[in-house]
Amino acid sequence: MKMENHVSLEFPSRSANEGFARTAAACFAAQLDPTLEEINDVKTAVSEAVTNAIVHAYPDTLGKIVLKLRLRDDHSLEIVVRDWGVGIADVEQARTPLFTTGNEERSGMGFTIMESFMDSLKVRSAPGKGTTVTMRRKIARRMGR
Ligand SMILES: Nc1ncnc2c1ncn2[C@@H]1O[C@H](COP(=O)(O)OP(=O)(O)OP(=O)(O)O)[C@@H](O)[C@H]1O
Ligand SMILES: [Mg+2]
Repeated sequence: MKMENHVSLEFPSRSANEGFARTAAACFAAQLDPTLEEINDVKTAVSEAVTNAIVHAYPDTLGKIVLKLRLRDDHSLEIVVRDWGVGIADVEQARTPLFTTGNEERSGMGFTIMESFMDSLKVRSAPGKGTTVTMRRKIARRMGR
């Protein structure tokens, strides 16, 4: 049987929803029988992407965030986090380690963390239109399943 499966979650940019999104991604990924390390990597990446949408995309308002999770036939997980907020003028600069437009609470390491925990990271953004972050992570097929 084909692996393909997907879910889509829509929520407002309230900080309480970061934990929900992170845990939902872990629950969805569970069907791939991941190791604890793989699950933690996925949770970390989702947390960074959703936190960015909450903190940066809608600085003064509440806006819509969509999290899409997809299981692919190659035993990988695709994670898409989309917002319709302020967008990013220079994506390359935003992805540079330590670059931040945030306050002293931010370290500018979110994209770097996503990149290191996932196999691939794509960021599409347009000022005033919003941002789409697409990440993929292979989950190893383990013996005995
Ligand atoms: N969804 C988004 N909408 C608008 N701007 C964004 C979005 N995601 C990231 N950015 C911009 O990219 C910059 C870098 O993001 P990154 O996650 O790497 O660091 P940070 O969020 O500033 O700090 P940290 O994640 O370490 O707390 C942000 O400071 C912000 O300017
Ligand atoms: Mg961040």
